Amino acid sequence: MARDLAIDLGTANTLVYARSEGIVLAEPSVIALNENNREVLAMGSDAWNMIGRTPAHIVAHRPLRKGAITDFDITQRMVRLILKRAGVSRFNKPRVVICVPSAITPVERRAVTEACRRAGASDAQLIEQPLAAAIGANLPISEAFGSMVVDIGGGTSETALLSLGGIVEIEAKRVGSFDIDDAIQNYIRREYGLAIGERTAEEIKWTVGSAAETPGEGRAEVRGREMFTGMPKTVVLQPYEIRTAIEEPVSVMVDSVVSCLGKAPPELAQDLLTSGIYLVGGGSLLRGLDSRISQETGVPVVHAESPMECVVLGAGQLVEDFDAMRAMFMEARR
Ligand SMILES: Nc1ncnc2c1ncn2[C@@H]1O[C@H](COP(=O)(O)OP(=O)(O)OP(=O)(O)O)[C@@H](O)[C@H]1O
Ligand SMILES: [Mg+2]
Repeated sequence: MARDLAIDLGTANTLVYARSEGIVLAEPSVIALNENNREVLAMGSDAWNMIGRTPAHIVAHRPLRKGAITDFDITQRMVRLILKRAGVSRFNKPRVVICVPSAITPVERRAVTEACRRAGASDAQLIEQPLAAAIGANLPISEAFGSMVVDIGGGTSETALLSLGGIVEIEAKRVGSFDIDDAIQNYIRREYGLAIGERTAEEIKWTVGSAAETPGEGRAEVRGREMFTGMPKTVVLQPYEIRTAIEEPVSVMVDSVVSCLGKAPPELAQDLLTSGIYLVGGGSLLRGLDSRISQETGVPVVHAESPMECVVLGAGQLVEDFDAMRAMFMEARR
């Protein structure tokens, strides 16, 4: 029998859960293509490691941007590779549940399901990321009690208020943790005339990035290439200057939580004071983001147990009981 699969096809990371096995794949959403013949050379961390170290005709692609499919052909190749690595063949056609951003357009919806079907899935169903995340975080979503989950990914930020098994209110922004990396890159270019790569910008975010002042902040030393002279140069970055540099994307994230809460019916908003707001997604690990959201909403904020796996674990629960869970799938609720 085919192993049914749940896939979190994220802007930054792709995870796959196989029925009765658990997570079988977790890789960055990157593929390396030979531009001359469009051959796929590698995916995931192997492809990532090729960036900047390969001849010019070998190019690494991130098929998703801002949670949206930018290139249907490349996405399809990646889905095909993912399913192959998860053991899908011509004789083994699984049913697949894919987690997608809730703001996905009908065209993108079709593109994703089509990509899965062409890659060998016998059935492809979609579920919104925050709904999957809430299931993965074991929130009591089927009860008449409000739960709120905030998923900050690489390309999207989504806040959902859930009750009685459904989404009551949702705020989705196509702004994510990659936009913080961009802001850091731009700031360092503007302020110090220094060119740094996106991976360096991401490391700066991890080490000195923050959404609010936190105890024990350290500085970061960064090496880059001075654009004017082309010479290597080192600068020292202070936490407050990075905080200021990333304020724009961070405030979009925080404001969307505030605005979702503002639309909540009073009873459900009241429930959140006891249950708290749950943070998931890699981007939610930004230092001080929890205290900042808590401060601006007046509601306690909790980090989910496995923030980067929550979404695929939730979709995995649906895959364990595919037919019974059909009501949760996106098309079934339209
Ligand atoms: N400790 C950390 N501090 C800040 N950011 C982090 C940390 N760890 C991971 N991230 C960021 O989290 C992002 C990846 O998160 P995640 O895997 O949840 O995204 P995704 O699900 O692929 O994206 P999306 O849901 O938007 O499609 C990356 O941008 C990464 O830099
Ligand atoms: Mg995600």
